[in-house]
Amino acid sequence: MLQGRRILLIVSGGIAAYKALDLVRRLRERGASVRCVLTEGGAQFVTPLSLAALSEDKVYTELFSLTDESEMGHIRLSREADLLVVAPASADILAKMAAGLAGDIAATALLATDKPVMIVPAMNVRMWEHAATRANIATLEKRGVLRVGPVSGDMACGEYGEGRMAEVPDIVAAILKFFATPMPDRPLAGRRALVTSGPTREPIDPVRFIANHSSGKQGHAIAEALSRLGAETILVSGPVTLPDPPGLSAVHVESARDMLRACEQALPVDVAVCAAAVADWRVKDAKDQKIKKKNGKSPSLTLVENPDILKTLSTAAGNRRPSLVVGFAAETENIVKNATEKRRRKGCDWLLANDVSPASGTFGGDSNRLHLIREDGVEDWPKMSKADAATRLAQQVADHFRDLPFRPAGKGA
Ligand code: PMT
Repeated sequence: MLQGRRILLIVSGGIAAYKALDLVRRLRERGASVRCVLTEGGAQFVTPLSLAALSEDKVYTELFSLTDESEMGHIRLSREADLLVVAPASADILAKMAAGLAGDIAATALLATDKPVMIVPAMNVRMWEHAATRANIATLEKRGVLRVGPVSGDMACGEYGEGRMAEVPDIVAAILKFFATPMPDRPLAGRRALVTSGPTREPIDPVRFIANHSSGKQGHAIAEALSRLGAETILVSGPVTLPDPPGLSAVHVESARDMLRACEQALPVDVAVCAAAVADWRVKDAKDQKIKKKNGKSPSLTLVENPDILKTLSTAAGNRRPSLVVGFAAETENIVKNATEKRRRKGCDWLLANDVSPASGTFGGDSNRLHLIREDGVEDWPKMSKADAATRLAQQVADHFRDLPFRPAGKGA
């Protein structure tokens, strides 16, 4: 449920900091990656070592650390997350946030971020009820900061009242809800997307293969754009040199048959976009050993057809999940005409046709000129960057789903 989500967990001072250790585990077992910032106060209660061991990542504790800054500046730290969670959030850090102070790494990350922030307050009941804390909370909530708790109960200090940190399952539930709730800038929250990208490699022998010129730029940009709009996105990619886009889960495959398997494992999803340049054929009897030259005689290769991933996803019987299937057509002539026929043949809902003749520079290039073909007609898009084309497609996918009811998309649903 949190596959591919990146959470920056800021642990401030308070006895409840021990719960942050369990929170890291529970978020990670749901697929999130968790990076921790530990304040000086927080370090009085839990150690950087325990957070590092549980998060399997570096823990950030200092603002003016030469090594931390050279590896990952504090600005990047605050932006390379989908959500910042402050748990426990002490009265002190809430006051710093409200006032916009930036005297340590935690406060700086919170001031520098452009990502949503969730606070999980924990403090003594009198501190929680103090007019200063009330005003700080009101200020933060007016700015859109999300809050979980605090709850009432016995306190470590011996008093009773509101101020206890919310329990870990309730924090996890709030985080899950956050990622599943569509907001104006995340209209695809709660939807699942599958994107194929890049070429496939079909082995001839252990050292040779059949492939094509796809770089993965278009498919990766689409996966990133869908994820940015809030979709839980699985990118199934053939061999490319691009890094995995942030905030999604990537599955790396080689052949068309591997790609089909990975796609089937990702189901059910709401939308599938097949941008990969899948090899139509593979060598029938790929050899286990390198084929040797024999007296100038060239080996003959018999090709057999690969499974058609797009067609398989589009024509699945019964309750098809993806409910929206988007294919691509790589054409070198009669682009729209051929692609219109291809859409019918493959059974997908939408199809983006592009010219892949060498002169177009589409393969491997940074721009694309697409034609979106649907049952009701063709939309010609001007030439634009692959990133812009991806954003435009993701927005149209979001528009398509805007008024459609949510159906459970989890495994086995
Ligand atoms: O990766 P880039 O360098 O950025 O280039 C982008 C691109 C040109 C690869 C991309 O925009 C594109 O056109 N992708 C589809 C390439 C392709 O294989 O087209 P096709 O017309 O051969 O196939 C039609 C559709 O069927 C495609 O959605 C393809 O993913 C799918 N297919 C094809 C064969 C197969 N065995 N299984 C499939 O799923």
